[in-house]
Amino acid sequence: MTTSIRRATPADIPAIRAILAAHGNDGPITTVDIVGPYVRHIVEHGTALVGVRDDEVVAYGATVDAGVAVHLADLFVRPDLLGQGIGRPLLEELFRGAARRTTFASDDPRALPLYVRAGMAPLWPDLYLEGEPAGLPQMDPSLSLEPAGASRLAALERAWTGVDRAADHAFWVSQAEADAFVVLEAGEPVAFACARARQADADRVIDRLLVRPGAEPVRPTLAAIRRGARGGRIMAAVAGPSPVLPALLAAGFRIRDRDQFMASEPGLVDPARLIPNPGML
Ligand SMILES: CC(C)(COP(=O)(O)OP(=O)(O)OC[C@H]1O[C@@H](n2cnc3c(N)ncnc32)[C@H](O)[C@@H]1OP(=O)(O)O)[C@@H](O)C(=O)NCCC(=O)NCCS
Repeated sequence: MTTSIRRATPADIPAIRAILAAHGNDGPITTVDIVGPYVRHIVEHGTALVGVRDDEVVAYGATVDAGVAVHLADLFVRPDLLGQGIGRPLLEELFRGAARRTTFASDDPRALPLYVRAGMAPLWPDLYLEGEPAGLPQMDPSLSLEPAGASRLAALERAWTGVDRAADHAFWVSQAEADAFVVLEAGEPVAFACARARQADADRVIDRLLVRPGAEPVRPTLAAIRRGARGGRIMAAVAGPSPVLPALLAAGFRIRDRDQFMASEPGLVDPARLIPNPGML
């Protein structure tokens, strides 16, 4: 049976969420809805495609233009149709014309080989660390933190990397219980972050953090994690090569999950200075 590929529309969101839920990537909303607004943002601002059979959505994939690369945000085939050649053409279509490519591969044995064939190499694991701020060292007195809106975060990112992610910053700060802020050293911005609530438990997560190129990354990242936690448990995705990893392990954080970062060339992402948004880099 043939599968056709077309652009996803907001009307497809319930079918997309059903496929995500079947893979455990969406689920009961015990606190706030995180996945719904995320998928809507991707459908409206990214490139989201669905695979359709007999008028039924059987697969979903999406990319976002992260500036440094076209980032594969999602690729999911309905569980009863895995391994039947549906994912590969969807991926080809999503990356058409993209010279620079990145993604976070799951541990599904079909994902990594598909991405290697799409020109990406596995570069490092991203480790999802969870813990409480109590074990973190006291904040360096030369650092301070102040709340910031989307336009300030977008302006800092533009200044530091040349990439305009204004639409994504507007989304990130709109999420449930979002707390967006800048970390300053001697009054100068050295990092910014956005923390938010999670869908299935009361913990919080660093949704995304960026450290200024060249700046020492550990102290501002730990300060951001402390603030983002609001005194409770918090999760952050840290790249394997980052010096933040040993610092968080020493503070009692535990590894709960991992993804494999893949890219079409090394050097697109600085692993020490980004806590990525897994969907959107
Ligand atoms: C990952 C996913 C999207 C791929 O879609 P799919 O339709 O199942 O994949 P396809 O059938 O098009 O291709 C799978 C490929 O993996 C290959 N493969 C499977 N197991 C493999 C293994 N252990 N080693 C090497 N290659 C393997 C297959 O041979 C096939 O390649 P081919 O086209 O050259 O024969 C799908 O399996 C899925 O939804 N997985 C669960 C959700 C998930 O983890 N998504 C990835 C998020 S990063």
